[in-house]
Amino acid sequence: MLIEIPQVLAKEQIDEFLGELSAAEWADGRGSAGYLSAAVKSNGQLADGSPTAAKLGKAVLERLEGNALFISAALPFKIVPPLFNRYADGQEYGPHVDGAIRPISGTPHRVRTDLSATLFLSAPEDYEGGELTIEDSFGARSVKLAAGDMVLYPGSSVHRVAPVTRGVRYASFFWVQSMVRNDDHRRVLFELDSSIQGLASELPGHAELVRLAGVYHNLLRTWADS
Ligand code: NI
Repeated sequence: MLIEIPQVLAKEQIDEFLGELSAAEWADGRGSAGYLSAAVKSNGQLADGSPTAAKLGKAVLERLEGNALFISAALPFKIVPPLFNRYADGQEYGPHVDGAIRPISGTPHRVRTDLSATLFLSAPEDYEGGELTIEDSFGARSVKLAAGDMVLYPGSSVHRVAPVTRGVRYASFFWVQSMVRNDDHRRVLFELDSSIQGLASELPGHAELVRLAGVYHNLLRTWADS
């Protein structure tokens, strides 16, 4: 399941993010990649322990906490603190898969990467290329979203970032361990939840809504680990 989540960041936040990121010190992105990925990876990343990454990452997580679409689609259990990358001058990230388990640096904790997320920070007209292409059971899809919008996709998928041939592409990315590990189960829950929300606004107070909400929670109880 691939889901676009619009306006994760507010407009004024995006300007603040871009200001901080353009002044930040960028490290070689290969530092955080496994050896197969490092061979096809060419970009900059904010280093581990970067105060800018910590500050902006915290702001991203605060916004996501209040984002009903994100919560419904991801059913998050644990989230890796967001990382930040920068592509320019033809930099790209060839086809790769993300590691299944991600340690949280400086802690003994690990996150299973059920879902990958990319939050676009640069406006699409400010750079050429840089599409994120995700291959999965639904075929290949390329996304290049408005600044502040985010795409959520299965951590299991092969994906790549096309060369950025003009301008600079800044993004934040991170992984989510979901309470519901199975992608198909998560999709059923997301569709059911969306449908209940739709009915609740069309037929507020309808008695069957309570039973449907019960079905949702009983499925969640069956499938969730927390
Ligand atoms: Ni990746």
